[in-house]
Amino acid sequence: MTNSMKAKFVIRGLRASDKNDLIANELSMFDEAKKDINFGQILEKKRPTLPELRKWFAKCLRTSKSGESIDLVGVMDGKVVALCSVDKVGYGYETEHVGELGITIVKEGRGIGIGKAIVREILKKARKKYEIIEATGIFSTNKAAIRLYEGAGFKTCAVMPSHMKRGNKYFNEIRMSLRLK
Ligand SMILES: CC(C)(COP(=O)(O)OP(=O)(O)OC[C@H]1O[C@@H](n2cnc3c(N)ncnc32)[C@H](O)[C@@H]1OP(=O)(O)O)[C@@H](O)C(=O)NCCC(=O)NCCS
Repeated sequence: MTNSMKAKFVIRGLRASDKNDLIANELSMFDEAKKDINFGQILEKKRPTLPELRKWFAKCLRTSKSGESIDLVGVMDGKVVALCSVDKVGYGYETEHVGELGITIVKEGRGIGIGKAIVREILKKARKKYEIIEATGIFSTNKAAIRLYEGAGFKTCAVMPSHMKRGNKYFNEIRMSLRLK
């Protein structure tokens, strides 16, 4: 039996009770990047503080409830292991038909189909609101992310040379786009 056959996970909307798991998940991304310079998640330069993360979570919850953003989580063994969001690109600008997709899955939840399932679900919802979905900030070395987006129908539309710099190392950024309508 493969991992994905054994793995049981649930995709659902964001809840207030997800706060502690999601804050811990965010912090774990910084730990991973510290251990592995090639870790493919774009991060703030400075590790956020707990009050900053609480504010971030409160904003996610607020925009999710108001419908400004679409936010889904993946839950495995009672723990939130994934967050996927679609936010509007530029409120009040001529880009309002475009949504930007972001996804973060903690280490133990990767490679077992959660990414595929959560992206499939969020695109169903995004279809009602957007014409185009973009994924940016993708490290050109991030095979899993590129494969995930390609599988969902995204096409690479730009490569931005040395767009990310971690320590003294530069990474090219891939930008991908999916037309929904
Ligand atoms: C990138 C990420 C979102 C992918 O989600 P995931 O749940 O691990 O991916 P899935 O298990 O759903 O697999 C999706 C596809 O990618 C492939 N894949 C998964 N891990 C892979 C890897 N390490 N290398 C190559 N391909 C990989 C799968 O085989 C599958 O392809 P298929 O449709 O052809 O079968 C997740 O690994 C992650 O959060 N990584 C760390 C942070 C990050 O990189 N975020 C994205 C920033 S753009």
